[in-house]
Amino acid sequence: MAKHVVVTPERWLPKGETEVTAGQHVPMVVWGGIVGEEARVKVVHKGQNQARAIFEETDTPSPHRMQIPCDRYDPCGGCPMLHTDPEMQEMAHRSRVREALDRAGLDDVGLGAFTRSPRMFDFRHVVKLGWGWSFDGKRSKVGAWGRRDRRIVPIPKCNVAAPVLRRVMTSLAHHSIEMGLVPYDPISDEGVMRGAVIRASSKTGEVLVTLVAGRIPKKLDELAERIAQDNGEVVGVWVHVNMDEGNGLFHADEDGSIGMKALTGRDWIEEELDGIGIRVGPGDFYQTNPAMALPLYERTLNQLAPGPEDAVVDLYSGVGGLTLLAARRCGLAIGVEAVEGAVRRARESARRNRLNAEFIAGDVQEELPAIAKRLSHPLVIVDPARRGLHPDVREGLVEMRPRKLAYISCNASSMARDLAVFREAGAIVHDPELFDMFPHTAHVECLTIVEFEVEEARRAPRRKLLRKG
Ligand SMILES: C[S@@+](CC[C@H](N)C(=O)[O-])C[C@H]1O[C@@H](n2cnc3c(N)ncnc32)[C@H](O)[C@@H]1O
Repeated sequence: MAKHVVVTPERWLPKGETEVTAGQHVPMVVWGGIVGEEARVKVVHKGQNQARAIFEETDTPSPHRMQIPCDRYDPCGGCPMLHTDPEMQEMAHRSRVREALDRAGLDDVGLGAFTRSPRMFDFRHVVKLGWGWSFDGKRSKVGAWGRRDRRIVPIPKCNVAAPVLRRVMTSLAHHSIEMGLVPYDPISDEGVMRGAVIRASSKTGEVLVTLVAGRIPKKLDELAERIAQDNGEVVGVWVHVNMDEGNGLFHADEDGSIGMKALTGRDWIEEELDGIGIRVGPGDFYQTNPAMALPLYERTLNQLAPGPEDAVVDLYSGVGGLTLLAARRCGLAIGVEAVEGAVRRARESARRNRLNAEFIAGDVQEELPAIAKRLSHPLVIVDPARRGLHPDVREGLVEMRPRKLAYISCNASSMARDLAVFREAGAIVHDPELFDMFPHTAHVECLTIVEFEVEEARRAPRRKLLRKG
């Protein structure tokens, strides 16, 4: 096997690597390559179906190649596009979304505008950390799960994270190691620390820390106090217990709730969306790159264009940011979300902002039929997790025939699959627009508008669109 070969990658792959097929027995996946750039690569693995290689050098660098401003680029792997400029990142996103649409049979659907992130560094307002052992098993390590084998890679200088998160990460790693809080092993049920989610508000700079542990020894109270004392921005430290095997950070109870116990402080930080205060709690979802949230939400609502007599249904509403922005423009906004804490905070945010929004705690799959009975052809937003829509939800939406549907997604493949079903049912699928929510990664946020045909006879005057509940 030749260890070093010269290749020219042909396409971007879903995880941010590139692929070479020309002249290869099996497709070669190149880490650090750029499509169209001839480069020398080192082959690190040759299997029956795939070879893997790492970029080494090139005499003819792509004009889009950038100096990598991170010494953990390769072992961490969290920013696979860090070696490319924003223009190439846009091209790569476009090619991946294009492929997803083509694969789903939507080859006649085009691609709309790409909205860049106002910041390419320091933009992340949430980081997830893991605990693990060093290679020799003698020391605890705290950091990201590495790209090759999920071994922990410390990332104290991570320059995509907001500066306050870098400080809190470092402090948390330092104190947990000094206090002998070792990694938890779900197989032997030994140890304590599993992970942490640290979230900062882009409005106030306040930080909420959620520890994930296999058990809750007394020492965790001291750890929480130490972190809060070291970092004035930390307003709350909470702990979630997860003894499950596997890679999932949170364990959902039978009723779907995610248990949290206070170690110190309060259970929320506040974000702001065009003057609306939104509270985010320890187990809630909120956008990774808050500076992109408002452009995405405003574009969504401008496309749906609700009037004061319209109803907007926001499915998978999280802490309700988009629902509350919609409530300012329409007659009634309804959010549906599975995480109860997020729904509680969304209701509180509605009250505090004096907005007419209703939040339903539950599974979209189960709640949709009742909403469809209650509202005639409402405007609907869906923003599901990466797996996309459950088949029952797709079916329910086809039956409901929203006047317009806005599909927000961070996974073009599941989105394209769902859009193909809507199209099959006669809907018009407009060109997805792209939002750079996660710079330097292979992920991009898409917004697609879908229009269902609504028979005029069934399309009651707008005033009567709201049926009694
Ligand atoms: C991608 S997030 C979007 C949140 C929100 N739209 C926002 O912009 O912040 C998806 C949300 O869907 C929720 N979720 C996932 N599966 C669900 C389900 N089956 N029913 C209701 N909510 C669900 C998650 O808890 C999460 O808050």
